[in-house]
Parts: sequence; structure tokens; C-alpha cells
Amino acid sequence: MNILIVGSGAREHALAEKVSQSALCEKLYFAPGNGGTRLIGENINIQATDLEGLVDFAEKNNIDFTIVGPEDPLNLGIVDVFEERGLKIFGPRKAAAKLEGSKAFAKDFMVRHNIPTGEYIETSNLNQAIDFTKKLLQESSKAVIKADGLCAGKGVFIVDNLEEGEKYLREILQDGSYGIKKVIIEEFLQGFEMSLIAFVDNNNIKMLPTSKDHKNIFDKDQGLNTGGMGTYSPNIQANPYLEEIEDQILLPFLKGLQVDKMDFRGVIFIGLMITASGIKVLEFNTRFGDPETQSILNRLDSDLLDIMIKTSEDRLDQAQLSFNDKKVVTLILASGGYPEKYEKGFEITGLEKLEGVKIYHAGTKFVDQKLVTSGGRVLSIVAIEDSFDKAIDLVYKAADKIDFKGKYYRTDIGPKVYRYYLEEDLDKFRSIKEIVAQLGLDQEDIKLYSRFDIEGLKQDQAKDLLNDLNQEQKTYEGIDAFDLQKSFKKAFLVETDLVENKQIENYPQEIFVEKALVVSSQKDLLRNEYKKLKDQILQETKGSQVRLLGLPTKIS
Ligand code: AMP
Ligand code: GLY
Repeated sequence: MNILIVGSGAREHALAEKVSQSALCEKLYFAPGNGGTRLIGENINIQATDLEGLVDFAEKNNIDFTIVGPEDPLNLGIVDVFEERGLKIFGPRKAAAKLEGSKAFAKDFMVRHNIPTGEYIETSNLNQAIDFTKKLLQESSKAVIKADGLCAGKGVFIVDNLEEGEKYLREILQDGSYGIKKVIIEEFLQGFEMSLIAFVDNNNIKMLPTSKDHKNIFDKDQGLNTGGMGTYSPNIQANPYLEEIEDQILLPFLKGLQVDKMDFRGVIFIGLMITASGIKVLEFNTRFGDPETQSILNRLDSDLLDIMIKTSEDRLDQAQLSFNDKKVVTLILASGGYPEKYEKGFEITGLEKLEGVKIYHAGTKFVDQKLVTSGGRVLSIVAIEDSFDKAIDLVYKAADKIDFKGKYYRTDIGPKVYRYYLEEDLDKFRSIKEIVAQLGLDQEDIKLYSRFDIEGLKQDQAKDLLNDLNQEQKTYEGIDAFDLQKSFKKAFLVETDLVENKQIENYPQEIFVEKALVVSSQKDLLRNEYKKLKDQILQETKGSQVRLLGLPTKIS
């Protein structure tokens, strides 16, 4: 098949690499592509938003299937244009792409279909906008202001004072600096973020692996929002919530599409926040994420082209999706100044020296046989390893070897959670002890641990913090998460409670601590015994069971 890929980012380069592995793929074209896609196919000088140019090219060059990367052509209706001409294409039609194109439309969809999301208003009235921002600031000291259009991830502002809020509101509503003069003002949601991408057709939804983006330009999530400065997959911290996400978000989403008779064939990319009061949707995107795609496609073992064709033909149920267990990290090298003004045209060197990583190009092009920078996000460096530590090490070694003037990258991409267990005394948890006794189980076999996931600190600081939290001076151990299943025959978690980001004395930055109680059995309980134990304890403690998947602890 002849395949046309629309777009010019590292996401499109990664999609192309995966598609090229399909036995169905013969030739790849890119419109307009970049310095890297030129090496694996033919770059065509047609912009991603030139729908007429693209459809004419596809017709004249016997393109069998077109894959759309970015949101702009989808929102302009590229899929409608191609399908009206009888051409096959992957992506949602214009009416459904509005789920990304208008945040107000998306919010309304969520509310009507009971998909959990933050409290918000939608308005074009400056006074009303200021009043609601003031109210949110009084309630929770932060408010989120979003321009209601496509802004390449740059139209979202989190503010902690009214003055700053008013500045952005005036820019959006009075000056029209972000296109449409309408805003969504939303409550600030505290928790941890997750990106989830799923294939969707009119009857099915199938998830891809989870990942985590790093949206802000600076380390520790400081500074302006960008399109994304790095990702990793899996997002192990969020993985335990997948069942809930499927029930509370994915299935209502699919049902909502059906109720609204919204033809949707493509991918939905859902930005989620896992909060103390449940899982909430931050946003929908109706396309692959960039740089999420660079990480997650490296965990997909199946034929991507086959899945995309089946999705576009409403046959997603017939597609096979299988994934590997690798730990993947993607680091973005950007032009200094991005996401604001930056210079381009600088030569990129050092790519030939790299080891153990893949490179996907974004803002690059060849000028006089030389590879030079031509955009804000320049390259994605990807490492695929058995451990996050190894993958992180490799991407940063590569980042050092690549050179161009103004090279910038975040230094903190990757999971940053340290997990510790404190053994607890069963006597302290009387209701659990009673349940164990009632069920006739041996108390010696049941062990309780407090589990702390500490984020935002270096390892030594995390240990110090744990000592502070551990006022009873119990001994603690760090169990490498991947040994967890070996350490406990059966275990579940209860009383998960999010300790809010807080400023703790001696620690300058914000820290995120999640505490949970692990109930574990040293003995392989009968299925029935285990179920009763779990159900009764969960009922008693109003806890929730989550799978005990590993976190990337670096405990020595
Ligand atoms: P969005 O484009 O709506 O996903 O917003 C971009 C980024 O802003 C998200 O990935 C979050 O990091 C942050 N964000 C958006 N909405 C909220 C919210 N209500 N509370 C906290 N952070 C948010
Ligand atoms: N990485 C976020 C996005 O693609 O919108």
C-alpha cells in the first residue's frame, strides 16, 4: 500500500516507523514531513492544512491510506474531504474533532454523558470570567484559564492570583490573542496526571499503554505549558486505576458518541487527573499525543497499520493489540526560547555518535546536505529498556552528545516516585484484626504495611521525609517494586489517601506523598478465603483494591 502521513513532528516520524514495519506498507509519503522522515520516505511540499492540495495529491499518486497526525487538519475536516472523494483515511470527522477543537464543546459532552471532570464555566464576558476566577482562587488558591480554541498546548494558564488571571483573561477575551474570544475557567485539580490513548470506532474502544507527559517547559513542572517536553510509558503510578478509567470514562465516552450519533473512527487521547475525589478528565484530543506516541508505540507489538485500517472501517473488534513490558522514556530536545520566540537554522551534530537510543525528528530539515533546526521541538530521543533507570540514563547520555546552538531540554523526565513500606502492627487495626479472626485465618499469615509513594524529592531527602512521617520510629524497608509480587503471595491496598502537595519544612519544593495500607498474605490463601478477606476489609475501611504493580523505586 502507498501511505501518506500528514504532519511534520516526531509523532509522525514514530507513526511512520511503526507503519513501515507492516507487511502491508510499500511506500511512505509525508506532507510536509521533516529532516528525519525524508530518510524513510518521500517528503511532499504540501502543508498539513492544505486539504485540497492533500486530497489532489492522494488521488493522483494512488495513495491507499492516509494517516493524520496533528489536530489542525482534523478540525478543518480533512477526513470529510477525503472520504467524500472515496479515499481511505485515519481520523475522526470534523464534527467529532470538535471534542478537541472546542474545550467548551468537550466540557458540555462530558457533563451530558456523566464523564467526571472539573467544575467550570464557559464565558465570553470579562466580568463574569473575573468573578468566577476570584471565586475559585478564594476556594482553592488556584484557578485554570483555558482559551477555547486550538493553541498547541499553549492556551492553558494556571494562576494563583487575580492580577495574573485578569491579564490572561484580557488577552483572550479583549485582545483575541488566542483566536476565539471565549474561555473555560476551571477548578484546579490536584493529583497526578496520566495520558491515555485509545483506538475508537463506532462500537469499540481499545486502550494503548498508559504514559505520562511533562507539559511545562522547566524542570519540576515550572514555567509555561508546551506541547510536551518528554514522556514515559508505562505510567505505573496511574496504571492501577485502569479498570476504573474504563468503567467511568471510556465506556461512558463510547456511549456518549453513540447517543449523540457522532461518527468517530480514530484515536481519542484523554488527559486525566487522578485526584483524591476520583478520576477526572482534563481534556480530549482526537489524535495521537506528541510526545506520548514516541513512547507508547515502542510498547506496541502488533501491526499498527492493520489496526488503523480496521478502525477506519469500523472493524476495530477484529484488530489485535498486544504490548510489551518495556520501560520507555522519550526526551525532547528543543530550541532555546521555546515555547516562546526562538531562533532556527542551527546545524545539528552528533547524531552518529549515539548508542542505545532511537531518534525521531521534529523541527529539522536538510539545507545544503546539513541537518539544521527548523522548529521549537527539534528531536525526540527514545530509549526502550527493561528498567526506567537504564532508559533515563541512555536518553540523557544521548542528549549530551547531540549538539546545536541553543539546545534545551528538561533534566527530570522519568518517573520520580520512591516507594517505602513500614510494617504495621495488626493490633493497631482492630477492625481488620477482627475480620481476620472471624474468617478463621492465622494472624501470623496476614501482614500489614503502610506504603508511602514520595514524589518530588531526591532519594536521600525522601528517606529523611519518611523518617519525619514515621513518628513511631518503626523500621522501614524499601522493597523493589518488581519484587513485590514475590514478597507477597496475595495483597491489596486499602485506605489510599492522598496527602496533599505540601510545603514541608526543610524541603523547598512541593512534595507529593501518597499513603496506602497494604494488606498482604504470606500464605497462598484459597480463592474464596482471599475474596472474603478482601471484600470485608474493603467494606469496613471504604478502601479500594488496586493492583500492586511496580513503581520504579531506586532503593539500594
Ligand atoms: P489541557 O490542554 O486542558 O490538557 O491542559 C494542559 C495542562 O494543563 C494539563 O496537562 C495539566 O497539566 C494542566 N491542567 C489543565 N487543566 C487543569 C486543571 N483543571 N487542574 C490542574 N491542572 C490542569
Ligand atoms: N503531549 C500533549 C499533546 O500532544 O497534546
